[in-house]
Order: sequence, then C-alpha cells, then structure tokens
Amino acid sequence: IRVLFATSEVYPLIKTGGLADVSASLPEALCRLDYDVQILLPGYPAAIGAARRAGSRRKVRFRLGQYGVSLWQTRLPGTAVTLWLVDCPPLFERPGDPYRNEEGTDWWDNAHRFQLFCRVGAMIARGESGLTWKPDLVHCNDWQTGLIPVLLENGNERPGTVFTIHNLAYQGLFSRETFRALGLPDALWRWDQLEFHDQLSFIKGGLVFSDRLTTVSPSYAREIQTPELGCGLDGLLRHRHQALTGILNGIDTRVWNPETDPELAFHFGRDHLKNKALCKAGLQRELGLEVKGAPVLGFIGRLVEQKGVDWLVEVIPGLLDQGCQIVLLGSGEPRYQESLRALARKWPEQFSLTLGYNEGLSHRITAGCDIFLMPSRFEPCGLNQMYSLRYGSVPVVHAVGGLADTVFDPLDVGLDQANGFCFRHASAEGLRAAIDRALAVLGQRRHWRRLQENGMAGDHSWRQRARDYGELYQSILKQRQPLPQ
Ligand code: ADP
Ligand code: GLC
Repeated sequence: IRVLFATSEVYPLIKTGGLADVSASLPEALCRLDYDVQILLPGYPAAIGAARRAGSRRKVRFRLGQYGVSLWQTRLPGTAVTLWLVDCPPLFERPGDPYRNEEGTDWWDNAHRFQLFCRVGAMIARGESGLTWKPDLVHCNDWQTGLIPVLLENGNERPGTVFTIHNLAYQGLFSRETFRALGLPDALWRWDQLEFHDQLSFIKGGLVFSDRLTTVSPSYAREIQTPELGCGLDGLLRHRHQALTGILNGIDTRVWNPETDPELAFHFGRDHLKNKALCKAGLQRELGLEVKGAPVLGFIGRLVEQKGVDWLVEVIPGLLDQGCQIVLLGSGEPRYQESLRALARKWPEQFSLTLGYNEGLSHRITAGCDIFLMPSRFEPCGLNQMYSLRYGSVPVVHAVGGLADTVFDPLDVGLDQANGFCFRHASAEGLRAAIDRALAVLGQRRHWRRLQENGMAGDHSWRQRARDYGELYQSILKQRQPLPQ
C-alpha cells in the first residue's frame, strides 16, 4: 500500500510539538512493516537546507496560480523514508516556526500557505503532479492538511483518505473574506461543510470529507464527542462516530532509550537503575541546583492553557517550601513565562526555569527527575509521559486523553500494576493532592522502585500501534474497491 503522509512538521527538521515526533516515527514504523509511506512537508528553510546538504534534487516544477512550485525528493534524515518538500519560496522560505514569525505572531497568509500545500498534496494524490509515484491513500494530519480531502472529493480516481486529529483545539479558522480570496467553491460555505460560525474552518474539511478519522488515543476519541472537549465540533464528530477511532501514539524507542541516549552522561535500564541517581545529580549541577537528595519534579512542554501551566504556577510555591526542587523547560504564552520568571527569581536555589526550546536538556530532565508532571487540561495523547515512563521518572498526570490511557494509579489498579499517579479533579488542588501521594510513595524505596519498573516495562513502541494504522488503511481500501459487476 502506497501512502502519502501529509504533515506540517517533522522531527528532526522542524518541530513545535508532538506532531513532529509522530510524523517521523509513524511513517518509519510503517515502512518497516513494508508499507510504502512517503512524507509531504512544506519546504521550510531548515528542510530545503537539509535536502541540499544531502545532495537531493528537485524532481518536478509546475505553476499553481501565481506561484512557481517545485517538489524536492529527499529522505528523512537518519531513515530510509522518502520525504517530498513543497518548495515555494514566497510562502515557505521564512524564519520562525511553521506558523509564526520570530515574534510569535501567526503569518497573515497562513490560509494561503496551507491551501497551496494542500493543493500540491491533492495533485500528487491524483497523479497530476508529474511524479510517477501515486498513492493509494492520503494520510492527513491536523488542520494544515484539512483541505486535501476537500480537493479530492470530486475526482473519479481519488485515493482513500484518513484524517488524524492530533489536537482539535487548533482548527485553522479564517474569515469569510479569506474563504473568498482562496477561490474555494461557494457551495462549500455551509454549516455541514467548511463554514464554522461564520468562519472558514480548515479542520472541518478533514472531519467532513475524509473516509476515516482517527485521534491519537482512544480516550480522546470519546472525549471529543462531548460538549466539554469537542471544541464546538462534538456534534459533527458524534455524527461521524462510526468513522472515528483512537490509536495511541507510539514513541521512537531509539531516540528515547535510557540505555543508549547520547544526550546522557550515564546510562541506565530497568534492571540497572543505579545510574539514574547520577543523571539526577548531573541535572542538578547543570541547572545550578544544590546536589542533594531532595525530590526533583520536572515539566517540559508548551506553556499554553492546554498544559495546565496555571495549576503548576499555583502549586510550585508550596512544593518549594516543602523542600522539593522543580525543573521546568518550555516556551509559550508571555503571561505564563512572566509568572514562572517571578517564581524563579524568588527561589533561585530550588526552582530552575529554562525558557526556550532545548532538545538535549529535555532528555536530561526526563532522565534526571524523580517525578514528571503533566497536569494538562486536555491531552490528545501526550508523548512526554511515555518518555518519562521509559526513563524511570514517575508521571503525575491529569486523567484525560492519552494520559488516562497510559498512566495507571495505585488507587485504580493497585501498586503492583501502577506506573504513576492520576488526578481527576481538574484543579490545582487535584494536582497537589496527586503530587502529595507521589511524594509519600517516593519515601518508600521498594514501592517506588516497583512503580519505576512497571513504567519501564511498558511497551510504548510503534510495533503494534503502527499495525493498527496498517489495518485501518487496508479496511479503507477494501471499502473503496468497486463492487464486482
Ligand atoms: P504537544 O504536541 O501538545 O506539544 P506532546 O507531549 O505530544 O505535546 O509532545 C511535545 C513534544 O515536544 C515532546 O517531544 C517534548 O519533549 C517536546 N518539547 C516541548 N517543549 C519543549 C522544549 N521547550 N524543549 C524541548 N522539547 C520540547
Ligand atoms: C498534539 C497533542 C499531543 C499529541 C501530539 C502528537 O500536539 O497536543 O497530545 O501527543 O499532538 O499526536
């Protein structure tokens, strides 16, 4: 089966969050299962630069409206996976991340940028791009790819389509003027098509027009069908519930392996955990914290409402007063950065704050902390809790989405099966109560060890989860086969 995997970010070329990790590791896992999965990515400077350095070339050139477009064929660094880059310098040759300029403001023409990306995806899918390769199926990811299924809708020879929701809260909403400027057919401006409260919604394109929908965890697939977490789209998702399934994300177990991780000075594993203490001391030293036995609590992530940063800000002072050390790495909204900075100024010896993006440090925090915090308000899947499980750092999480599907609390499953702590009361108090339970067990060496070992024994690789995607692909193609005459 040939699959075009369309995505707006991919690790290690360009990343703002977990979408990039999944867009690299899932195609790679599928290729290992003999699926011919090829990635399509906008030609951001970092990606074109890597392609040039790899000696890759442009394969085809064509015009799309006012734009000259070329397609580069290269490989995802460090893998055998084919990567196609949509090179259109006026739209993609820009500094900043995939969506924003260096000041953090969305590009004014994101609708145009990702419409062009979708049009190129649809051309490849229909075999109209001049390439000899043509997919049986297009796998779209998040709103940036939402117009691909729309553009494919009326073709005769269209491939199957899957749309994966990594985060329903980001919908790609634009004004009616933008809808007109994009030149999309007027017929699409309807509540049951692309219109959403008098706005153009890219994500609705994916949700309405794809053969099948997936989310990145089974719990999130259920949650988004409720008004609380449906972001206004729960009605549509209930309507499509038969097409919707949840498949838990996997992690790249080679990049995230405490036995070999090149970012760590010391390595450890489930049956030789001793060096984890050296990683903890190394982290304390690196961040200027006192090297001592105090509990170290870690957090890594985007500083946005989703991640429950305000709950963290509320509980941090009490934990520091109690003698804990807290290590936080992230970047995001100025209001959160400000309140965290204020805490860091007040407790420089116990609270380490790193604002910005730092891949190496994220590995060392994952390895060096005792407790890993993920108090997300909602979490489609979440990767950091799986990384921390693998590194013997015990997660404390809000029991939602993928967190509820991967972290098991002693109160629910008993200590013998547990690997972390969950809270259900969505508040700072809920978070604090779960941390207190974790700290109590941390003092009981044998019990703590049990939690760590359970976490490290879990299989979070793509092995089975990629097979589930493979089966989904097959079932779509089977459904689409013309009935015999
Ligand atoms: P989301 O996609 O919602 O941001 P995930 O848990 O799925 O959440 O994935 C986040 C990914 O981004 C993880 O690989 C995490 O380690 C990484 N990450 C987030 N913020 C930072 C940061 N400041 N520095 C390094 N890595 C980060
Ligand atoms: C999104 C979600 C996160 C998920 C990631 C990869 O960014 O917020 O929960 O793990 O996508 O699917």
